[in-house]
Order: sequence, then C-alpha cells, then structure tokens
Amino acid sequence: MEKMKAALLGLGTVGSGVYKLVQKRSDEMVHLIGTELEISKILVHNIKKERPGVDSALLTDNWKEIIEDPEIQIVIEVMGGIEPARTMILEALNAGKNVVTANKDLLAVHGKELLDTAEKNERDLLFEAAVAGGIPIIRPMKQCLAANDITEAIGIVNGTTNYILTKMFEEDMSFEEALAQATELGYAEADPTADVEGLDAGRKMAIMASIAFHSRVVFDDVYTEGITKITAQDVAYAKEFHSVIKLLGVAHNTEDGIEVAVHPMLIDVDHPLASVRDSFNAVFVHGDAVDDAMFYGRGAGEFPTASAVMGDVIDVARNLKYGCTGRISCTCYRDLKIKSFED
Ligand code: NAP
Ligand code: HSE
Repeated sequence: MEKMKAALLGLGTVGSGVYKLVQKRSDEMVHLIGTELEISKILVHNIKKERPGVDSALLTDNWKEIIEDPEIQIVIEVMGGIEPARTMILEALNAGKNVVTANKDLLAVHGKELLDTAEKNERDLLFEAAVAGGIPIIRPMKQCLAANDITEAIGIVNGTTNYILTKMFEEDMSFEEALAQATELGYAEADPTADVEGLDAGRKMAIMASIAFHSRVVFDDVYTEGITKITAQDVAYAKEFHSVIKLLGVAHNTEDGIEVAVHPMLIDVDHPLASVRDSFNAVFVHGDAVDDAMFYGRGAGEFPTASAVMGDVIDVARNLKYGCTGRISCTCYRDLKIKSFED
C-alpha cells in the first residue's frame, strides 16, 4: 500500500504534538484515510537541538528538500510568524501541495492571498487550529452553520490570558508568575506580548468574523486591548461586584456594518463565560436559523492544538484519496462595511 506523505514545518509545542499523534494513531490512520500517513520530513530552525523521541533522519533546515519532493502531498505549517511561513505556504500551494496551518498571525493579514492561491490551484488550505485551539469552530461555522445569517460571535479565544486571569482570581497569583506558568505549559505565543496585549485574540476574531459573516475582516480592522493593566486591586473590586474579569472577543454584524473588538470585561460570576477557566476557551454564536450555539474546550497546548491540526490533515488526506481536493472552498463573498472604532 502506497503511503501518504506529509511534511511538518516546525517541531515546537504544536509540531511535537502532531508528530506524536501521528505515531500514536498510525494503525487507525489506515481506516480513517484508506492508507498509511507518514511524516517524511520535518523542517526546523535549529537542526542541532536535541529532540528526544524524534527520528533525526527526518529533520532538515532546508526548505528545498520539502518543496522539491514530489512525494510530499501535505505540508503542515506549525512554525508561526509571517515570513518565511507565507512564502512557503504559497510555494507549496503553487507546487500542487495541500496545506494545513495553525498560523493565525498569517491568516489574519494574508488570508485572502493564501485562500485565493489555494483556490487557483484547486488545493486544500485548512486552518481549524488557528482559532480557539482544540475547539472545532472554523469547520462548524463554514459548513454546519452555512445556512445561517450569523450576526454575533462572542467568546474567550486566548488560552494564555484566560489562564493568567484564572490564577489571579482564584490563587491571588501575580500576573508575571501566571504568565511564566502559561509559557511553561506551552500556551503562550513565541512572543507572549501577542497574548497579553490582546493581539492574538484580535487575529482570531478577524479570522472568525470573516468566516462567520462571509466577508473579509483583517487584523487592522479589530480594536484590541489586552490585560496588562489589570492589577490585584482590579481583581479585588471585581470580586466585590460578584464578577470576574475575562478577555472577550466580540464580533457583530449589524445593519451599520461589522464591528470586531477584543477587550477585558467584567462578567457576573453566574454568567456561563465566568466558568470558563484555565486554558479553556468558549465561543457563543448567534445565527438566524440555529439561534444560539456554544463551543467550549481547550484553547491552547500541545495535544488540544494537535487534535485540530490532525483533524484537518485527515480531511486533506481523505480528499486526496477520494479525489475531492479543493472542493470545499472558503469563499468570502460579501462586501460588507467594516466599522472602525472611530466610526
Ligand atoms: P513554537 O513552540 O515556538 O515552535 C515553533 C517551531 O517552528 C520550532 O520547532 C522552530 O524550530 C520552528 N521554526 C520557527 N521558525 C522557523 C524557520 N524560519 N525555519 C524553520 N523552522 C522554524 O511554536 P508553537 O507554540 O508550536 O506554535 C506554532 C504555531 O501554531 C504558531 O503559528 C502558533 O500561533 C500556532 N498555535 C499555537 C498554539 C499553542 O497552544 N502553542 C495553539 C494554536 C495555534 P526550532 O525548534 O529549531 O526552534
Ligand atoms: N497563545 C495562544 C493562546 C495559543 O494562548 O490562546 C492558541 O492559539
């Protein structure tokens, strides 16, 4: 039986999870996709780093070994950052490879260019892990809720800040100590400023709003405010008001246009979002047909994120096996007004 070959770009928190999950599920893969799945190459930055449990023959720091390998049909981008990830994904799609990525920084700015390139080449470009880690939210919005006019998506979409706020409220932990723990647990971005200043949540909200409202929302359209100014005194005041503080992403589509923002909010302890603790995320969606729907789960970390990445990889592999590649496009057809906070 011919194996299906994939390359991993990146072997950090998420890449390691994906690698381990492919090893762990290798027998089931045959049933899930009709053939064996093999990670045949892994691109890393530092080739000399010790990587226990990883076959060192797979490692490379040379992109050419992947892009020029005709047997590699799936590229899994889990390096992060804008470049070289953007160029590599474009080259992979133009070379006829399919791509799975967890890279919200890239999608929130260059999503249209990447999706148009995938469509032009009739390839799959899937990115479930880019929003809310392990929670299925992109595919449900794109497919299961496709018949709805979605007018609202609200939620906690950053695991690091939710972890920090949980520790500040429940254990009186300092911001710095909680951030250090979140980093140690693999939740934080390579530069955690993106988490604590609300930029990561803003990028996810831009991607989610684009899918939800069938429009193009980019990171620059999103108002962002993080949690760095929240003090122990704010925590004490919030408790007096029977409330907690959560970093919320809010996206609305009204007659006046689309408005997307991320900012900390006081939430009554009895509200369902108040019980979203630790690295968990939750997203509420309102659609005209479905009414309210809620999605809840781990928003960050090695295996929750690898779960979402691998769901996409399995879909891509099945599409390849059964000749359906490039069939599920991500068309954003509406030209809606995007309201800025100055409006
Ligand atoms: P990470 O732990 O920092 O790992 C990044 C990996 O990419 C490392 O293996 C690094 O190589 C490699 N890399 C970076 N730049 C490279 C380059 N120019 N050439 C070759 N290799 C390069 O990051 P992560 O937490 O796994 O996150 C990866 C992606 O997933 C990011 O887009 C992130 O936003 C997204 N994401 C992360 C989570 C999470 O919970 N962590 C959840 C959802 C989405 P070395 O090992 O040699 O340094
Ligand atoms: N740094 C991100 C977070 C990773 O904490 O939510 C998941 O996207």
